[in-house]
Amino acid sequence: MGKLVCIRIKEQHMEKSIVLTGITTTGTPHLGNYAGAIRPAINASKDENSRPFYFLADYHALIKCTEPDRVKQSSLEIAASWLALGLDTSNAVFYRQSDVPEILELSWILTCSTAKGLMNRAHAYKAAVAENEETEGSDADKGITMGLFSYPILMAADILMFNANKVPVGKDQIQHIEMARDIASRFNHVYGEHFVLPEAVLDDNAATLLGLDGRKMSKSYNNTIPLFESEKKLRKLINKIKTNSLEPGEPKETEGCTLFGIYQAFASPQEVDAIRQRYAEGIGWGEMKQVLFEKINDELTPARERYEALLESPEHIEQQLREGAEKAREISIPFIRRIREAVGISSISKS
Ligand code: TRP
Repeated sequence: MGKLVCIRIKEQHMEKSIVLTGITTTGTPHLGNYAGAIRPAINASKDENSRPFYFLADYHALIKCTEPDRVKQSSLEIAASWLALGLDTSNAVFYRQSDVPEILELSWILTCSTAKGLMNRAHAYKAAVAENEETEGSDADKGITMGLFSYPILMAADILMFNANKVPVGKDQIQHIEMARDIASRFNHVYGEHFVLPEAVLDDNAATLLGLDGRKMSKSYNNTIPLFESEKKLRKLINKIKTNSLEPGEPKETEGCTLFGIYQAFASPQEVDAIRQRYAEGIGWGEMKQVLFEKINDELTPARERYEALLESPEHIEQQLREGAEKAREISIPFIRRIREAVGISSISKS
């Protein structure tokens, strides 16, 4: 059995490179997520030369969020969004992390060979400690859970379980991929070659959008435009985007302009050139907001309709996720058996 799996994994490598990424289920997908991660991932799912593994990182959600309803609702909204936007699940393996319990087994096994010193260097943990240290008299580890501390190990397990070659992530996650490589190398060194060393990929086509207040669009700044907001609310939110006080007729800068940046993420290069010209001629902010609204609304309306239909029949979403988990477990079940054996955990007798 062990051998068979090995051959299968090798074959997959020869034919298709494994691209894997996870989405933490703590929020509602917004335009920034769409342009920065979802759209490039869905486009990549159509590439025949790669086999994408995309999953809802619900165990990661528990690190940041202790509201069960939010974790649950977010899983539903994220899954519905990806499906509504046309994720090709015949090629992509789309699953929920918690439906693949072998990932947690692997996470513990890796925990036992990961240096604590490596985790001490993780940015997210260090930032939390630094914040505590700013408050005088406060404990450096105040409010820091073991989940936050060991989160790079869970992430390494997500990646190494499927021997992913490429991991598309944002800049803030690169360190975690490097840690996954370190963790894999250490394990391979001690127990033999079991894991492929993953590589982080930063997508050139992924855009970073600014939010309502002009800072990076992010749920932690509460400045997002949800992806599948109703047409009416979408218009309202776009009207709320902060601009400067230049009057219509005065030439305007495109550089650093939130409206222009979002427009650019949705429009063709020709359309962008035309708008750049209008900025130079002094397009009014009200008019630009109308142009932007129409652009986004045109692109999203068909998907919004599919999204709403999916939310009406969540059993369809559940079914897709279960099928995804089944495909994932065809790999994870034999692979975890191999890893358990490698570390000396297996049945005592042959029968
Ligand atoms: N930690 C990632 C984030 O916050 C999400 C994630 C979890 C992930 N597991 C992963 C990304 C594995 C890539 C690979 O964005």
